[in-house]
Amino acid sequence: MPGVNAQTEPLKDWTPDSWQSRPARQQPAYRDRAALDAAVDQLSRLPPIVVSWEVERLREELAAAQRGERFLLQGGDCAESFDDCESGRIAQRLKILLQMSLVLVHGLKKPVIRVGRMAGQYAKPRSADTETRDGVTLPSYRGDIVNRPEFTAAAREPDPSLLLRGYERAALTINFVRALIDGGFADLHHPEYWDLGFVGHSPFKSQYERIVASVADGLEFFETISAKEVHQSLRTDFYTSHEALVLHYEQAQTRHIPRQGRWYNLSTHMPWIGMRTAEIGGAHVEYCRGIANPIGVKVGAAMDADWLQRLVTTLNPDNTPGRLALIHRFGAKDLEAALPRAIEAVRATGHSVLWICDPMHGNTENSSGGYKTRRFENILRELELSFQVHEAMGSQLGGVHVELTGEDVTECTGGARGLTDADLQRAYKSTVDPRLNYEQALELSLLVAERAGKPRRARRPR
Ligand code: PEP
Ligand code: CO
Repeated sequence: MPGVNAQTEPLKDWTPDSWQSRPARQQPAYRDRAALDAAVDQLSRLPPIVVSWEVERLREELAAAQRGERFLLQGGDCAESFDDCESGRIAQRLKILLQMSLVLVHGLKKPVIRVGRMAGQYAKPRSADTETRDGVTLPSYRGDIVNRPEFTAAAREPDPSLLLRGYERAALTINFVRALIDGGFADLHHPEYWDLGFVGHSPFKSQYERIVASVADGLEFFETISAKEVHQSLRTDFYTSHEALVLHYEQAQTRHIPRQGRWYNLSTHMPWIGMRTAEIGGAHVEYCRGIANPIGVKVGAAMDADWLQRLVTTLNPDNTPGRLALIHRFGAKDLEAALPRAIEAVRATGHSVLWICDPMHGNTENSSGGYKTRRFENILRELELSFQVHEAMGSQLGGVHVELTGEDVTECTGGARGLTDADLQRAYKSTVDPRLNYEQALELSLLVAERAGKPRRARRPR
């Protein structure tokens, strides 16, 4: 069992609901206060979805990533939908993450921490509180845990009972993921379990199969010379994460763990604060400062040095390793100007963070046909530039955060198959942001593995 968090004293001026006295952006306007209170009350008595020692283990692994000893792969849907809580879809998402992590382990020669954007990623920040169609104005759709997407007054009314439905879907999802993993699905001896039906046609099939064969050879060699199976040492851990957005949901699952002497959000291992809710003095930063989980914060180009520094010192005052991950999402075109400033700003605090690149959210644009899309070349460019800038500044990129699906969708353009704007209408399924499809996700991991796995001196800018 991992050691006790370095911060053993609970914060004195913080409670799970102290966020309620701060300005809270992006919250549903619940009209039925009694129904909200009843849902929060019920949620706070239900068992937790994760446990504190798993959260502590992840924090220790993230601390290792901060030291360059591990690499984080965080990925999944932009938003999960309640309908997607279905065995095939969950297994597919797990499979692509396992395949990507195998490629990364092989290329980087270091353990990969797998964190899904799943089992709770049901709420979305929106640019406007309302949506108007044909003269009718209704609340915006904020994700399945808040309301429903159809454009009717009934569907768009924020419904507190959906907080409970979200909790149940998250629990069903993590239950299935845990059963698959404990049952051997993630065992490196059996990567064939992770095959996806349509992979037969993938341009990366043979490259991926060579990696699988090489891992199998390595395992066999190790097991031959050590005369034991490596099951235990290769046990795959899988963690969950979601944006901590709807604070009534997060508050209700915040528990005090006496053995640790701390409060934990036990709805997920690693909550993150989105870019639209990261203001100092706001409710989301207030809530997150009091929980012991590792916290991610999305960082965009609009955050100046002072803002970043206050985030770092507010959210991690004791500089606890593995506590704070800054997930930068500047966009390929702004990265070279913005990232060095961000690294300098954090350095000036004397605190360490885990740097993660989200190459998706700064690269969203509209296609010629009106689809929200992202170009694979911009995604790769942002990642590549991130590696270069961190390296040039003596810093370290410790992970990547991506939106992907195990399905064969056409939402992002480019990649080895050269998807164009005209291809997008073929299988565009996202109701929110465009995701990498299976092939693009695998291609990205192959390129990261190649890039990050090379010894420093051998690297050349692309
Ligand atoms: C997201 O991760 O889906 C998201 C909304 O990101 P950001 O807060 O970085 O815009
Ligand atoms: Co998104």
